[in-house]
Amino acid sequence: MTDLPLLIAPSILSCDFARIGEELARAEAAGADWHHVDVMDGHFVPNLTIGPPVVAALHRVARAPLDVHLMITDPWTYAPHFVRAGAHVLTFHVEVCPDAAAARELATRIRALGVAEVGISLSPDTPVERVLPVLDAVDLVLVMSVHPGFGGQSFIAATLDKTAALRAHGFRGRVEMDGGINADTVASCAAAGCDTFVAGSALFGAPDMAAALRTLRERATQARRTPPLVQKDGTHVR
Ligand code: DX5
Ligand code: ZN
Repeated sequence: MTDLPLLIAPSILSCDFARIGEELARAEAAGADWHHVDVMDGHFVPNLTIGPPVVAALHRVARAPLDVHLMITDPWTYAPHFVRAGAHVLTFHVEVCPDAAAARELATRIRALGVAEVGISLSPDTPVERVLPVLDAVDLVLVMSVHPGFGGQSFIAATLDKTAALRAHGFRGRVEMDGGINADTVASCAAAGCDTFVAGSALFGAPDMAAALRTLRERATQARRTPPLVQKDGTHVR
């Protein structure tokens, strides 16, 4: 566990893209700490979303920091564009890196671009060991709790062990979980050591976004205070 403040980051993937500026304001009024911005290239994932010009437009109107999640095969080429566009956090996927040395070099290169926080992410099928050699070069690890590409999928509980493993290895930076986070799954994430929670459909799809966000925050805060119940096989009950 860490003392880092608990952050809730609504994912704009589930917002109304025809009214994106108003949607950012709605998320901020509801209590969003960050805006989670999913960038997809139609290659690393089978979906296409937004590029640097749209991130720059978001940056002009957003009051909360932009948490940019690059689900793209070539972060080497595009990272500078997203930093210039106003990313506060820039996260790349370890799966696009040939080895740990390349991941470390990319993290170092992104930091040198002047971004506030550098993140590394791993998909559900990627073992946590892939990111362990890079932990000292990043501020944040984004543990994907669904297969990257689409909002509205079901939470994969097996990914909780990765968050717990990062903490067991002494990682004191941010652990962000992304995918299928809602009022039922948020507590198990917090108990495993997550402090930053991305939620798309559970927030933008809620009838009252502020109430839904408050529930996520309350349940996560409560779970952080309550020591996790660990079963004999090492998995968390909460
Ligand atoms: C999926 C994205 C997520 C997505 C989460 O590839 O990285 O950020 O928006 O959406 P929900 O919360 O609906 O699972
Ligand atoms: Zn994401």
